[in-house]
Formats: sequence, C-alpha cells, structure tokens
Amino acid sequence: MRPILLNKIVLIALLMSILPLGSTFADGDVQAGNTKAYTCTGCHGIPGYNNVYPTYKVPKIGGQNYAYLVAALKAYRNGERDHATMTNQASSLNDGDIEDISAYFASLPLSSQPSGIVSAAEEKSKVCEACHGVTGKSVDPTYPNLAGQHASYLAQALGDYRSGARTNPIMAGMATNLSNQDIADLAAWFASQQGLQDLSIK
Ligand code: HEC
Ligand code: HEC
Repeated sequence: MRPILLNKIVLIALLMSILPLGSTFADGDVQAGNTKAYTCTGCHGIPGYNNVYPTYKVPKIGGQNYAYLVAALKAYRNGERDHATMTNQASSLNDGDIEDISAYFASLPLSSQPSGIVSAAEEKSKVCEACHGVTGKSVDPTYPNLAGQHASYLAQALGDYRSGARTNPIMAGMATNLSNQDIADLAAWFASQQGLQDLSIK
C-alpha cells in the first residue's frame, strides 16, 4: 500500500507544480474582452435563453472561473467538446481573444440573487395549495398551472404582484408579505415539479 500512496503524493505534487491554481486572469484583458464578447451576449446574455435542440438553458458564464472558460473555449475550438454553435463561435477566436473574453466573464461578480431551496418551500407553498394545487397543477381552470414553469419567470411574476407592477387582487394579497428568499424558494419548488413545457419543436 505504502509505495502506491507515495506515488500518488508525488504525482499530485507534480501536477500542482505544472497546473496554474486559482482563478487568476492575469493573461487576459478585461476591457478588450468586454468588447470582443459582444456576439456572445446574443445567447449568454438573455436570461433563460434556450439551446434549440435538445432544449436546455444556455449556461450561465458570468463569474465563471477564468481557467475553466479558457479550457472550455479551446475544447470547443478543437472539437474535443462537441457543440456545433459553440465550435462555430470559438473557431473564430484566437488564443488572445479567448483569454480576453474569459478574463471579462471571470471578472463579473457572482449573482447575489438568492437561489431557491426547494425543500424550504414545501411548507411555504401550503398557502398556495388551495388554488394552485399541491404540486402546482391548479384546481380551477381560471388559475394558472405553476408546475414546471421556469423559476425565473415565477419569481418575476411574484415580484410583480408584490410591487403592484402586475395587478390582481388575489395574488397581490398572497405576494405582499413574501420576502425575496420566500419568492426564490417558492419559484424553485414549483419549477421543480413536472408540468408545463416549452413550445419548442421536438
Ligand atoms: C447561438 C447561441 C450562442 C452564442 C452566440 C454563444 N454561445 Fe456559448 N454556449 C451556447 C450553448 C447552447 C452552450 C452549451 C453547449 C454545450 O452543451 O456544450 C454554450 C456554452 C458555452 C460555454 C461553456 C460553459 C460551461 O459551463 O461549460 C462557454 C465558455 C461559452 N459558451 C462561451 C461563449 C462565448 C465566449 C461566446 C461568444 C464568442 C459564445 N459562447 C456565444 C450558446 C451560445
Ligand atoms: C385564492 C387563490 C390563490 C392562491 C391561494 C394563490 N394564488 Fe397564485 N394565482 C391565483 C390567480 C387567480 C392567478 C391569476 C392572476 C392573474 O391573472 O394575474 C394566480 C397567478 C399566480 C402566478 C402567475 C402565474 C403565471 O403564469 O403568470 C404565480 C407565480 C402565482 N400565482 C403563485 C402563487 C403562489 C406562490 C402562491 C402561494 C404563496 C399563490 N399563488 C397563491 C390564485 C391564487
């Protein structure tokens, strides 16, 4: 056992001396990256924007680690990671572009928006059950189904009822005392249920 363990330690030490650690972005120019990233925002800048087929959300990359971004873009460019759109996007970038763009994305702060905790909302959603059903399938056809809806949309709607931007006497009453964390939890809860789907071509 001992020699194997020792070999592992030596290997790890070796790797650590080769691989850059941490999310330093000393190599890229944030300002230049901001300009060069213009076309990327067409998809990554639209909250909830979908990949066309198969359908899933375009990943969030603001605040992602510099080294990871550089590696991901190079992997798309050389075909190691297979995605037609991203290979196409990355193939027009040279190493300098990739470093600048990655530096820019990595420089963006992580979101302070609370992300919802599904389990926390089980209790909080009891009050919604009477109309929207236990899992978000509404009990009356005049009440919208919430099951499977995008969390961000649910959160937006609840925030709008609370602020009065969207007016509905019932929902205004329901939303008025919800905190931002309540809204995030409730949105996560209903979004996690099986239900609504996109209109995208299957
Ligand atoms: C037409 C929409 C579109 C455009 C434009 C676009 N992307 Fe993407 N991007 C995607 C999709 C979809 C994925 C997820 C692909 C996959 O599953 O690997 C992705 C993935 C990525 C990833 C990997 C993220 C991760 O967490 O692994 C990076 C990095 C990235 N894009 C950077 C860029 C950059 C930089 C640009 C501009 C030069 C750009 N993208 C332009 C749609 C787009
Ligand atoms: C007494 C019935 C009732 C209760 C209880 C109720 N709602 Fe509603 N809800 C409605 C009605 C009616 C609408 C449609 C309002 C409108 O037209 O804007 C609605 C709309 C919504 C919408 C907008 C959906 C969409 O597709 O735009 C959300 C989100 C929502 N409710 C969440 C909740 C949550 C979360 C709770 C519990 C905290 C809750 N509701 C409790 C009746 C209710």
